Amino acid sequence: MRYETKMLTAADIELAAHLLRQGECVAFPTETVYGLGANALDKRAVAKIYAAKGRPADNPLIVHCHSQAQARELVRDWPQQVQKLADAFWPGPLTVVLPKNPVVPAAVTGGLDTVALRIPDHPIALDLIAAARLPVAAPSANLSGRPSPTRAEHVWQDLAGRIAAIIDGGPTGWGVESTVLDCTRLPFRLLRPGGITLEDLRRLAPVETANSGLHTSGAPLSPGVKYRHYSPSAQVILVTGKRVAENIRRLAACHGQKGKKVAVMACDESRDNYPGVIFLALGSKANLQVAAARIYHLLRQADAMGCDVILIEELPREHLGRAIMDRLQKAAGPNIIET
Ligand code: TXA
Ligand code: MG
Repeated sequence: MRYETKMLTAADIELAAHLLRQGECVAFPTETVYGLGANALDKRAVAKIYAAKGRPADNPLIVHCHSQAQARELVRDWPQQVQKLADAFWPGPLTVVLPKNPVVPAAVTGGLDTVALRIPDHPIALDLIAAARLPVAAPSANLSGRPSPTRAEHVWQDLAGRIAAIIDGGPTGWGVESTVLDCTRLPFRLLRPGGITLEDLRRLAPVETANSGLHTSGAPLSPGVKYRHYSPSAQVILVTGKRVAENIRRLAACHGQKGKKVAVMACDESRDNYPGVIFLALGSKANLQVAAARIYHLLRQADAMGCDVILIEELPREHLGRAIMDRLQKAAGPNIIET
């Protein structure tokens, strides 16, 4: 189906809520990235999300709620440790996976017996969910495989004509998606690193890290992790280990000689290492929040500039750096140079 996609603002919440109640898809800002929302209790509405994104049907969605009470209605079990995490981090970029209540259709959970839940920390998202009086299923509002949208225009680039409306709330704050935590067993298991860090979580509950599903056989813990993600059209190459700058300069020269347009993505402190190439600045190493907020926009900008290759310097894999590196690694796919 072809839509005349409406570009809305915070003043149009009632209209957007009405569209959701009618079973349509509406993209809206959250504090992490833009989400593509639909009524989580209506499997036909949810099917439209998968169709609009081209998302594989076995990759489950996060259900967004406006209150803990609304979230608790969707699960069979609410462990005390989850209560502690919800009190500490909701509203905010933490998603908890728990055994689902039968009211949640299998279409939302990719057929799993669990459901992923979070309360977003964004006034437009909260007002929309409250006005719709519905839990709202919402993956990131990009075409499947593309970088997640951190601005309304990114959603427009990917989904104009494919969804009913987009609410423009300006750039999102965090820029990387929420932390996904499997809370169906103790210790809890980190399925996707995000804004709430492993260090933050471990102050309140026992948490172990899960291996990425990309390279393991059998059923992945979190179906989403087995797919390639966050990829611009340009080839992304992640350079790690020792002598990173030297290797990036060598690769840049090599691709440049073949007539390729090359960009380097790194923190500001590294800028002088790469004279003469397009530099995609991630901000200071001392503040990775800036890097998180910029990565998806910069990947899309590199495409807009017609870059063929993006060479990326690795960042420290701790605190927010863990989430950023997870996304960069997925964007690079097999193109990871380790020295
Ligand atoms: O910040 C975010 O989380 C954004 C905003 C819009 O809320 N949403 C988002 O959704 O990133 P999405 O669909 O792009 O990623 C959802 C992740 C996927 O990796 C999916 O596999 C995992 O959550 N997930 C969802 N339900 C699950 C479940 N029942 N068990 C395990 N993993 C689940
Ligand atoms: Mg996504």
